[in-house]
Amino acid sequence: MSALKQDIEKALMGVLDPATGKNLMEAGRVKRIDATDSHWAIDVEITNPALHVKKKIEGDIAKALSGIKPEEAVLQVHFMVNAQARAEERKVLPGVKRIIAVASGKGGVGKSTLAVNLAAALSRLGSRVGILDADIYGPSVPLMLDTKYVRPGLVQDEQGRSLIEPIENYGIKMLSIGFFAGDDQAVAWRGPMASKALTQMITEAAWGELDFLILDLPPGTGDIHLSLVQTVPLSGAIVVSTPQEVALADARKGVAMFQMPNIQVPVLGLVENMAWFSPLELPENKYFIFGEGGAARLAQELKVPLLAQIPLVQGIRESGDRGLPAALDDSNPASFYFRDLAVSVMEMSHRLPNR
Ligand SMILES: Nc1ncnc2c1ncn2[C@@H]1O[C@H](COP(=O)(O)OP(=O)(O)OP(=O)(O)O)[C@@H](O)[C@H]1O
Ligand SMILES: [Mg+2]
Repeated sequence: MSALKQDIEKALMGVLDPATGKNLMEAGRVKRIDATDSHWAIDVEITNPALHVKKKIEGDIAKALSGIKPEEAVLQVHFMVNAQARAEERKVLPGVKRIIAVASGKGGVGKSTLAVNLAAALSRLGSRVGILDADIYGPSVPLMLDTKYVRPGLVQDEQGRSLIEPIENYGIKMLSIGFFAGDDQAVAWRGPMASKALTQMITEAAWGELDFLILDLPPGTGDIHLSLVQTVPLSGAIVVSTPQEVALADARKGVAMFQMPNIQVPVLGLVENMAWFSPLELPENKYFIFGEGGAARLAQELKVPLLAQIPLVQGIRESGDRGLPAALDDSNPASFYFRDLAVSVMEMSHRLPNR
């Protein structure tokens, strides 16, 4: 390979592939580089043929090459649409625009609380939302949405196929892996079993038209998680952490999991939960009981946005236990944190390719 081609490849490592969140080279998107004194041609594979996506990549490439390309050489970027990859993805849940996973390496950091309140806040902002509880260790979404004692029924689609009908409360559709496993079964579950149940909740359920389907994952980054995230055609992921070092270390693993070559899910960003404690009687006071600024530093290090910082407040725990998400309750002082998070997620997701 010529030194020039090597330089070009190196420069293209600075350009982001919007579909995977990796750089163009790493994502294997650059199919040809042809560079002469007068003409540089680069073929790039994309899965989303939207004009704004092409324009963005073209602009980023021009910028990345500006330091090495002689002015007289004309740059031409050709786009090749990988229709097959796109068609494969679209077959699953064609009515769902975006599927976003909420994950963390560590347990108990507030994934389910975040997932439920994000779903609720998005719904309040006018989006059609569903939530899928994939936590085999301890499904908690039914409790948080006050649907613990309801079981989903079946409906028929136009072809006469029986589909699971998601339960709906507060305008949010939901299904939980807990409906498929008894309370004492979780420990016996293996990755393939969990992903089979998840596949059923996705391909054999009548989700209808949704703007967002939020996936609440179990804690950890082991085999079960890998098979779960490979089961679902995810549009993006949010990783939750508390400011504590142990939680941050696990969040780093969580981000790394989504960025693995065979997973390649764009990480929308980190959410720092329990960022500080504010007592009920002194809501203006902030006590940084788990440390301060940890998630912001990690976000900077991993080059992902810090989407939100949510305080530890009694009202959030109570709302979860009561089955009325804080995000839906204006009298809950925490509700606006979730609204802000939902706004950020909506903005971020505009940058993701449509499914
Ligand atoms: N910001 C917060 N303020 C107060 N309580 C919170 C907050 N976030 C979460 N909690 C409480 O902490 C507990 C754990 O939260 P949650 O179940 O959402 O965590 P999780 O990461 O989903 O846990 P698991 O790993 O078991 O799935 C719950 O009782 C919840 O109500
Ligand atoms: Mg949970």
